[in-house]
Amino acid sequence: MQFSNFSNHFDTDSGILQLMTDLGQSVNPNIECQMLGGGNPAAIEKMEEVFRQEMSTFMEETGQFESMIGNYDSPQGSRRFIHALINLFDQIYECQETGQKSIHPQITEKNIAITNGSQSSFSILFNLFAGKFPDETIKKILLPMAPEYIGYNDVGLGDDALFIANKPIIEHQIDDPLFFKYRVDFDNIEISNSIGAICVSRPTNPTGNVITDKELDQLSQMAADAGIPLILDGAYGLPFPNIIFSEVRPIWNENTILCLSLSKLGLPGVRTGVVIAHERVIEKLTSANAIYNLSPGRFGPALVTRLFESQTLIPLCKEIIRPYYLKKSQHAISLIKESMDDLPVRIHLSEGAIFLWLWFENLPISSEVLYHRLKQRGVMVISGHHFFPGLTEEWTHKHQCIRVSYAAENTQLVKGIEIIAQEVRTAYHSV
Ligand SMILES: Cc1ncc(COP(=O)(O)O)c(C=O)c1O
Repeated sequence: MQFSNFSNHFDTDSGILQLMTDLGQSVNPNIECQMLGGGNPAAIEKMEEVFRQEMSTFMEETGQFESMIGNYDSPQGSRRFIHALINLFDQIYECQETGQKSIHPQITEKNIAITNGSQSSFSILFNLFAGKFPDETIKKILLPMAPEYIGYNDVGLGDDALFIANKPIIEHQIDDPLFFKYRVDFDNIEISNSIGAICVSRPTNPTGNVITDKELDQLSQMAADAGIPLILDGAYGLPFPNIIFSEVRPIWNENTILCLSLSKLGLPGVRTGVVIAHERVIEKLTSANAIYNLSPGRFGPALVTRLFESQTLIPLCKEIIRPYYLKKSQHAISLIKESMDDLPVRIHLSEGAIFLWLWFENLPISSEVLYHRLKQRGVMVISGHHFFPGLTEEWTHKHQCIRVSYAAENTQLVKGIEIIAQEVRTAYHSV
């Protein structure tokens, strides 16, 4: 069978494919599997109860279920859901001009589109702003601070690399040398004519970094000055699911393309993403929805719209989801401290999302070899080297880190982290 050049985009060595495949299978049926690899959110009992209750209320309303399954939505997505989101954003976002909470609806229905998950939003957005332009320039998406989300890697549909990335500044934490934090290296960021958009995830997957308000404002200003959008990936961020442990502001303006998702609320299976952007971007996304999918799925919006309307979702994020992950993060850190106190491990400050990013300085094997050794022992993590899309220069640091999800059950975390410690110890002792 012959395939077109287009089929090369779906080569089997993609990191996201490896990750999603690992998520769905156990390596060896005879070995107990500790799943610390994928991006699945935790099963939070209270949230599961809320969603179950919502579903049964929805089912009891005459005609709602039949309407949901029996009709396509408009390509922009459910109007009722979009209106519920406008009300939410109106309460949350500060008006850029006055610094006051927005009273007038700064975000209107022209600024929102629903997609089949934010992975699907990025697939469209990156190809809207990178690739070949009418003036023959080839533009790329600038990732101002790698490591960045593995899922961005392979969504380009053109032949050229989609990303260009900058290395971060590594800041060691003086009060506790176990921790470090990446900072945007603004001195080395150049926004030339070959950049079509800037993109950053906040919190960052894989590191749990939350770039500061100041860093974000500076990026936003750089994007505005260059006349390009800033794509802000809020899959774990504000205003929902709010898995952010530091105090930061939500930002949005017409030059920001904010991508949100229902997944990390505990609903990855419903595949619903939300994009808030300038109306011209929304028009393009709406067309793409129609062309690729006819319309976005209706299940996610049907399940959560009333939670938005009744203003219960945001308090649930603050009172249930965020504290849950904060506790899990602290637990995972304490396990690492206990099991690796003899090893040169460093942890990126855990400021949000659902992962710890571990750095083993001068690790004698690559993180990819470590990944395979751990997989043989039933422990799934992600090798750090996948998280540097667009960073072409060689940097040993890329091969010394792994991403560990702490969303897994505690028993898996305990066993998994112990096995990671054993394998890393073996690697250091083997030289
Ligand atoms: C940073 C980040 N962005 C986007 C996504 C895609 O999420 P979804 O397509 O489930 O909305 C993920 C998934 O894990 C993620 O971690």
